[in-house]
Amino acid sequence: MAKEPVRVLVTGAAGQIGYALVPMIARGVMLGPDQPVILHMLDIPPAAEALNGVKMELVDAAFPLLKGVVATTDVVEACTGVNIAVMVGGFPRKEGMERKDVMSKNVSIYKSQASALEQHAAPNCKVLVVANPANTNALILKEFAPSIPAKNITALTRLDHNRALGQISERLNVQVCDVKNVIIWGNHSSTQYPDVNHATVKTPSGEKPVRELVKDDAWLNGEFITTVQQRGAAIIKARKLSSALSAASSACDHIRDWVLGTPEGTWVSMGVYSDGSYNVPAGVIYSFPVTCKNGEWTIVQGLAIDELSRKKLDLTGAELCEEKELAYSCLS
Ligand code: NAD
Ligand code: LMR
Repeated sequence: MAKEPVRVLVTGAAGQIGYALVPMIARGVMLGPDQPVILHMLDIPPAAEALNGVKMELVDAAFPLLKGVVATTDVVEACTGVNIAVMVGGFPRKEGMERKDVMSKNVSIYKSQASALEQHAAPNCKVLVVANPANTNALILKEFAPSIPAKNITALTRLDHNRALGQISERLNVQVCDVKNVIIWGNHSSTQYPDVNHATVKTPSGEKPVRELVKDDAWLNGEFITTVQQRGAAIIKARKLSSALSAASSACDHIRDWVLGTPEGTWVSMGVYSDGSYNVPAGVIYSFPVTCKNGEWTIVQGLAIDELSRKKLDLTGAELCEEKELAYSCLS
């Protein structure tokens, strides 16, 4: 029997990530090849015509799984009945801008959209915030939608996780699908800590630690980390626009693994509401290694944290606390 369609909201759908993301959702990349979807697309009035153009293209593409499209500038209509909300709408960082510069523009958007989701989304709606500053926008959304369980509100660090897999794969000249269990700790910003201490590569003679194969701790503790931390800025420099296809693809990975589960023995990185695990600050949206099962994420516990890692976990945690403070000052 055919499955009931899942309603997926994409805010900022007329923007460049939106344009890459909605066809992926309509093709089943996010929720699977047998899951029908109804797309809800929200943008602001100046983008209404472009949004309608995206809707026209979705119709023209005749996606078999796509059972309906709502394209609107009305936040209530956009949020009504949605099961998954991918929050991409906001003000993007431009060349030379730090995330903090865009904070005040985005916190007020996330405050008002939190209320709309709380009142009109389907019960148990899962929320992924992509728009920067992603962790802090997600925190604002959580704070202003108190009836949505904190575990349902997450931020995208899967792009950073995938970037780390990509760098290791290039360095070792191995397939990216054979590399696993990197970790992005903390903020989706240049203080994030891409950690390979528990990462492995599948080889013909079994799984081997990344450190053992790379044999270059100086690179792993230096250039590798900065490359992943700075990758968003490098894409902006090269394209004069922030990453879009990789962000859209990683958003699909995030939701797919959350809803359908992570493979046995594999974890992924998600920005989730911190309970203080690994002695990082509680009460911020912090990226942890997580496994997912039955639609729920669980932080992987018990991983050894060495001295260098400890410092980096604390540094990015401190930045998230600062961002939280700054966000609240923008609201008052
Ligand atoms: P974009 O400017 O192309 O698109 C943003 C869209 O949001 C625009 O169409 C704009 O009209 C719309 N918008 C603005 N305010 C809105 C509101 N209140 N409600 C609904 N829509 C609204 O930007 P983009 O390149 O698609 O990037 C979107 C966001 O994602 C940016 O904040 C960017 O920095 C962020 N980003 C995050 C990651 C990540 O890994 N977390 C990666 C890449 C980009
Ligand atoms: C990215 O990581 O590509 C985006 O978050 C762009 C940015 O603002 O750095």
